[in-house]
Amino acid sequence: MRTPIIAGNWKLHNTRDQAIALSTGIKSQTSDVTDVEIVVAPVFTALNAVADALRGSSIKVAAQNCYPQAQGAFTGEVSPQLVEDIGCNYVIIGHSERRQLFGEDDAFINRKVHALAETGLGTILCIGETLAERESGQMFNVLRRQVCEGLKGLGIESMVRVVIAYEPVWAIGTGKTASDQQAQESHAFIRSLLDELYGAQVAGATRILYGGSVKPDNVDGLMAQPDVDGALVGGASLKPADFVRIIKFQKV
Ligand code: PGA
Repeated sequence: MRTPIIAGNWKLHNTRDQAIALSTGIKSQTSDVTDVEIVVAPVFTALNAVADALRGSSIKVAAQNCYPQAQGAFTGEVSPQLVEDIGCNYVIIGHSERRQLFGEDDAFINRKVHALAETGLGTILCIGETLAERESGQMFNVLRRQVCEGLKGLGIESMVRVVIAYEPVWAIGTGKTASDQQAQESHAFIRSLLDELYGAQVAGATRILYGGSVKPDNVDGLMAQPDVDGALVGGASLKPADFVRIIKFQKV
């Protein structure tokens, strides 16, 4: 019912030529994949080239961030409209690196959610607790706050283009993946929040991705969980063979 999404977040990696090579390699090795939505998220400087290289394929392109204004005196920023203009399909917002390293809070992320809703772009809204929050029993409160504040004021009609990515901060780039059960527990909770906010139909239709050290050897178990609808992959998405294996996860 929910088409799985496997998204590669390349973070601050790859020159333009490396990004083109990586995306065309993924394209040629996944031409037989019809039941998974594939997304790649290059750096801004490679976005245009990758969007061009993938045009005509079913692989979608995401920006890793945006600023919540269409235009204006905002030196150094990029708007959703400009991202859409070059053929992108999604924008990742609220990634924990942006929250932690660049001080982005839920209110600012909520402005981005609304700015994206003004365009045809999809939103990949990242949420997730830190280890300290998990260990102090705050996990559900943190997830509730990030979902409710992040989506605040967003109309139900805009939810069709929203994807949630649950990324426990302690699992990102650490090699420590959440267990299948931990992922399922959080995903089920997030889906119950969507039910509270938007009702059963939206909750049942919204894709919730898991992120945090997803690799070829753990993707199958994660994807077998009933509320895990895909993966947001960092490190392993830079290795073509690994990323292709993740896209071709085995249904267990
Ligand atoms: P990782 O990154 O797969 O390298 O842990 C995931 C992410 O930050 O989206």
